[in-house]
Amino acid sequence: MHFHVVTLFPEFFGSPLSATMLAKGRERGSIDFTVHDIRDYTEDRHRTADDTPYGGGQGMVMKAEPVVAAIEATGDGDGRPRRILLSPRGRVFDGELAAELAELDAVTIVCGRYEGVDERVRAFVDDEISIGDYVLAGGEPAALVVIDAVARLVPGVLGCAESALDESFSEGTLEYPQYTRPPEFRGMKVPEVLVSGDHGKIAAWRRREALRRTLEWRPDLLLEAHLSDEDRAWLADLAGAADES
Ligand code: ADE
Repeated sequence: MHFHVVTLFPEFFGSPLSATMLAKGRERGSIDFTVHDIRDYTEDRHRTADDTPYGGGQGMVMKAEPVVAAIEATGDGDGRPRRILLSPRGRVFDGELAAELAELDAVTIVCGRYEGVDERVRAFVDDEISIGDYVLAGGEPAALVVIDAVARLVPGVLGCAESALDESFSEGTLEYPQYTRPPEFRGMKVPEVLVSGDHGKIAAWRRREALRRTLEWRPDLLLEAHLSDEDRAWLADLAGAADES
């Protein structure tokens, strides 16, 4: 999968895209990145990419011509990449959308900046995405969030195929607690079941702990989660115990 990033700050992406999982995925040939500098698509001597807003007001607005020229340079016509504008007013990014994007051959991620982007740019994108209900100074950190969440779902990016499956949100629950050596740390012991070697018991314990955490921290997720009769019975027990205490 190819990620095109359209930005005024290409240097922002240097080290994140050349480190950890993203670099490994690239070495393996599963993903690739091209960062496009919007200023390369300006036509004046000063490489002007923003201007004052019509109608007055504070701040600067990103100009339509260089942004659209940069978007079009990432591919046009049939089979062009899916074009995504990052902005706080877009639909909120989640695991489902990450999985949908991971199926594509290429995406173009446009990072907004300053007070906004000329409204006419929106006619040249397919989707507008926000990573949450807060305002960043620019779309660049959001682009990294989207790239990270999508890239790890692309086959071949993560070493172990299962690690992208057995985790929070893919099953509609938060992840179960994990432990590694030593068996005791500052008086806290690893739960006995995890060293029992009984895989059936371990799986049941993990499921119950995942449900316990979800009930405690994100009960909203349980409304959409895939729950067995056993899960429901356990949740009823937990809720009952909480009521008694
Ligand atoms: N740009 C500024 N804030 C943003 C957000 N919350 N998500 C995506 N892009 C943004």
